[in-house]
Amino acid sequence: MNLKHMLIVGGTGMLAELTSYLAIEQDVTVIGRDKEKMASIVQRNPETCHPLIVDYREEEALSSALQRAVQQNGPFDRVIAWVHRGSGKAMQIILEHSETAEVIHILGSRANSEYEKNCLCFNEQQTYRQVQLGEIHEMASVRWLTHDEIVEGVLDVIQNQDDYRLIGTRKDDVDVHSRNDY
Ligand SMILES: NC(=O)c1ccc[n+]([C@@H]2O[C@H](COP(=O)([O-])OP(=O)(O)OC[C@H]3O[C@@H](n4cnc5c(N)ncnc54)[C@H](OP(=O)(O)O)[C@@H]3O)[C@@H](O)[C@H]2O)c1
Repeated sequence: MNLKHMLIVGGTGMLAELTSYLAIEQDVTVIGRDKEKMASIVQRNPETCHPLIVDYREEEALSSALQRAVQQNGPFDRVIAWVHRGSGKAMQIILEHSETAEVIHILGSRANSEYEKNCLCFNEQQTYRQVQLGEIHEMASVRWLTHDEIVEGVLDVIQNQDDYRLIGTRKDDVDVHSRNDY
């Protein structure tokens, strides 16, 4: 039986549980840089979880790694991409190697979803969806999403095929998480 082929960019961090869950029934190619983190994810599903150790800011390396993954396991059916802002052409290169895929682009709290979309070129056979990470207001405090909340939100978008989904509520206080540029 031919398995569907997924690409998860940044699938060894907050999306690790999503990677492992999807790799139960699908071929999942995972991008990350840290070999130990990657090995701990791959060993959960060694037959179906395929590591791509590459820095997605290195355009040529990313391009050849994606080409290799497609040659080995077929074109990507779905892409889930958590790419940090300021990573150059990484997202565009990912799209160029995912010609017939449903692409789910995960955006940090500070991203402008329209701007992010307008920066990218698509082909007619691609579907592009966005999941934006918001924040959770609890009583008098504000917190980030847990990894479980993020994974559940992404799975829900896969099932319901929303074009845009905000998980939690929109970030309205730019100083709250000013340590990181998400
Ligand atoms: N609104 C929110 O609630 C919100 C938003 C953003 C982040 N966060 C939180 O902040 C924490 C840290 O965020 P994070 O962005 O570090 O997320 P993360 O998902 O924990 O880690 C980033 C992922 O992307 C990969 N990665 C990063 N840079 C890469 C590069 N240049 N090339 C290839 N792969 C790369 C990492 O692999 P390697 O480490 O192997 O490179 C890892 O798999 C998260 O765990 C999350 O809980 C919350």
